[in-house]
Amino acid sequence: MSVCSRVVVVTGANKGVGHALVQAVLDRDSSAFVFLGSRDVKRGESAKAAIEKHADRVHVLQLDISDAMSIVKAVDEVKRTCETNTRICAANAEKPMYALVNNCGVFLDDDYEQTLNVNVLDTHNVTEAFLPLVGSRVVFVSSASGPMYVNNLSKKGQAIFTSKDKSWEDIEEIIAIVKKNKGVLESGSNAIPDHLEGITASSSQWYGLSKACVNLYNMHLARTHPSLKVHAYTPGWVATDMTLTKFGKRDGMITPQKAAITGLKMLYEELPGNGRFYGSDGVRSPLDAYRNPGDDPYVSDSE
Ligand SMILES: NC(=O)c1ccc[n+]([C@@H]2O[C@H](COP(=O)([O-])OP(=O)(O)OC[C@H]3O[C@@H](n4cnc5c(N)ncnc54)[C@H](OP(=O)(O)O)[C@@H]3O)[C@@H](O)[C@H]2O)c1
Repeated sequence: MSVCSRVVVVTGANKGVGHALVQAVLDRDSSAFVFLGSRDVKRGESAKAAIEKHADRVHVLQLDISDAMSIVKAVDEVKRTCETNTRICAANAEKPMYALVNNCGVFLDDDYEQTLNVNVLDTHNVTEAFLPLVGSRVVFVSSASGPMYVNNLSKKGQAIFTSKDKSWEDIEEIIAIVKKNKGVLESGSNAIPDHLEGITASSSQWYGLSKACVNLYNMHLARTHPSLKVHAYTPGWVATDMTLTKFGKRDGMITPQKAAITGLKMLYEELPGNGRFYGSDGVRSPLDAYRNPGDDPYVSDSE
């Protein structure tokens, strides 16, 4: 029986992008032990059963990131399992997790509050809760919708979402303003303070806004935890329940298995810098414009 030294927790891994990434990690890395996050244990167990070849290196973790108690229990379960499971021998007992992958997310057409809650606030809460256990990496499954949203803003709005020094409180303030005004933000109105002028939040923009905030949080976390490698990426346009129920099967969609290739890169490769955003081809991409896979890498003149 081989011993596993790389413990990875993936949220929302019972299907779609997250599930394919779990499979890819286990295929590639014989020293990986994966906690397969699922808010519903039965769905998690079915997802584990589909990875039969490596099932002995998978632990289904009940984790609803919108439920504070579920997060507390999940952190405790990971800690205890790492101490007691004889398959796991983490290099650093204090920080037994190699990586946290913040994969889970929602794209709700009719509920901006829930979209912002899950994709940003709950993602922040679960990250902060696991952070004391994480030794090496945090990965955010973001979206090209973030840069596409930012691209449509005024210069002032773009400056907000490309700033490298936003704090978590700054991000919370953006979410609070959008919620308070029920998504209706008009430049120059009283609804929005001067320093947030340029942010818009029409109903078609909620998801993109949420991912632009994830990209800000990605940079914040990298800045405040320089000993960790922290990166965000878009998996591409992937055929999963999220997209198939909304758009149906379309040309250009990729499989979750193909999307997992870039997830592996975020988890295992020595990437330069920290807090960067990557395209679905695993190439660095800007925060304020869509970069086509295959195009030249984005190069920032500020670092
Ligand atoms: N598919 C794409 O084209 C695409 C493109 C860009 C970015 N992304 C991002 O990729 C990530 C994965 O999306 P996907 O396409 O794989 O979607 P998906 O098939 O709908 O899977 C989403 C996963 O998130 C879980 N989830 C939702 N809310 C949760 C919560 N509160 N707590 C815990 N888990 C929760 C779901 O659990 P249940 O099964 O219980 O609902 C499911 O496991 C998301 O962050 C998404 O924004 C996807």
